[in-house]
Amino acid sequence: MLYLSSVLLAVASTALGAPTTGTFNILTLNVAGLPAILNDNDVPGDKTVNTGLIGQYFSIYNYSLIHVQEDFNYHAALYAADDHPYRTATSGGVPLGSGLNTLSNFDWVDMERTKWDTCSASGGDCLTPKGFTFMRVKVSEGVWVDAYNIHTDAGTEASDLTARASNLQQVSTHIKAYSQSNPVLVFGDSNSRYTRTGDIPKVFTTDNGMTDAWISLALGGNYPTAEVLCKNPSDTTACEIVDKVWYRGSPAVTLTATQFQYVGNQFLQPNGSVLSDHDPVLVDFTWTLGAKLRLSDPFGGAFGTFYNDLDTLSTIATPVVSTITLSGGNRLDSVSVTLASGQTLTHGGTGGNAVSLTLATGETLTSATICQGTYNDQARLFSISVTTSKARTLSTGVTTSDCVTRTAESGWAIVGFVGRSGDGIDRLGFVYAKI
Ligand SMILES: *[C@@H]1O[C@H](CO)[C@@H](O)[C@H](O)[C@H]1NC(C)=O
Ligand SMILES: *[C@@H]1O[C@H](CO)[C@@H](O)[C@H](O)[C@H]1NC(C)=O
Repeated sequence: MLYLSSVLLAVASTALGAPTTGTFNILTLNVAGLPAILNDNDVPGDKTVNTGLIGQYFSIYNYSLIHVQEDFNYHAALYAADDHPYRTATSGGVPLGSGLNTLSNFDWVDMERTKWDTCSASGGDCLTPKGFTFMRVKVSEGVWVDAYNIHTDAGTEASDLTARASNLQQVSTHIKAYSQSNPVLVFGDSNSRYTRTGDIPKVFTTDNGMTDAWISLALGGNYPTAEVLCKNPSDTTACEIVDKVWYRGSPAVTLTATQFQYVGNQFLQPNGSVLSDHDPVLVDFTWTLGAKLRLSDPFGGAFGTFYNDLDTLSTIATPVVSTITLSGGNRLDSVSVTLASGQTLTHGGTGGNAVSLTLATGETLTSATICQGTYNDQARLFSISVTTSKARTLSTGVTTSDCVTRTAESGWAIVGFVGRSGDGIDRLGFVYAKI
């Protein structure tokens, strides 16, 4: 009992028990897994043995979320030695795979691999389908972070710089479409340096509101004006490597990088030689739930376009729902709220029969039950039932046996939505506002 109460005191949590703050760390490492016959990466020793050692260190240090690049032909040795519970299936060795994989203590949804639109023939960048991966990682209840693993075009010829700028721009554009209003981590092998004309590593800061953890924590927020190369492993973070970490939070989750390290000294052969020609980058993070806006966990399938009302809601001092409208028939077609401040937040298609409820002064939306089923072999939402603080309900669609209920904590109300939609609502979560 004594033990239990001290644990309860130590963990700040919501009334429903979900933590309101926490920490995690991320690591990025190019594991130098091209076939030895193509490229020995200037790393001594046997690649299978070395890659197995890297996997052992992943387990020993138990990093929360790891991105690897060039995980090609020694992938089996990496996974045999590692014991993270969530890992991507390999896309293959050279010339089939991208070399990108994720090893994680957190589960995720929506994992996708995307090829670069552009590659340059110089340096063999077109020999294998390089690109980036996207996934939405569940760090904690209401804390979903979009993680992008990248491996851009290498080299310093003009065509390499053009291809690399195109690669980084492609990720930046993808973030706008997939990750609007969501926390984002981009970490991987950018092949970029801030001092190189033509490289555009600032794109995530200028176009996506992200921070480079190296710039902020190692350089005090200042961009380098002269190229300072690192030895491998490096004993200082004052020098620049091409493996980089960018991050941002959202109106519902503050994300702060607290420590930036090059940790090549954690990844050595027994005799002190390196295991990769890249120095791994380790960044520690703290996250905190928003004081005014938070998210429920979502429910539903992995289809449709991403939507998120957080950015709109964050511009309103106190969002208050005046009317809620739901449309459905055999399934859930659309959801919509109109706010007292005038905005209408609508998602889904135009089908179904609409039902509306106008809330009384002081009445709020307190909970919602949503049910999913299978349609055309895919998980879709079939129904919703919303309850207000005056115990009134509004429902549409056909209920199934697979339902969840999301309830706002005391002092909070449902004011908007997050999820994926097309001509129906494929996935739905709720934005809560403090009232
Ligand atoms: C360490 O061992 C590897 C092979 O196991 C060898 O190739 C390399 O030269 C050794 N490094 C040193 C510094 O002796
Ligand atoms: C690794 O860390 C996670 C927390 O992120 C913990 O739950 C797990 O037990 C740890 N695994 C090992 C092998 O220490």
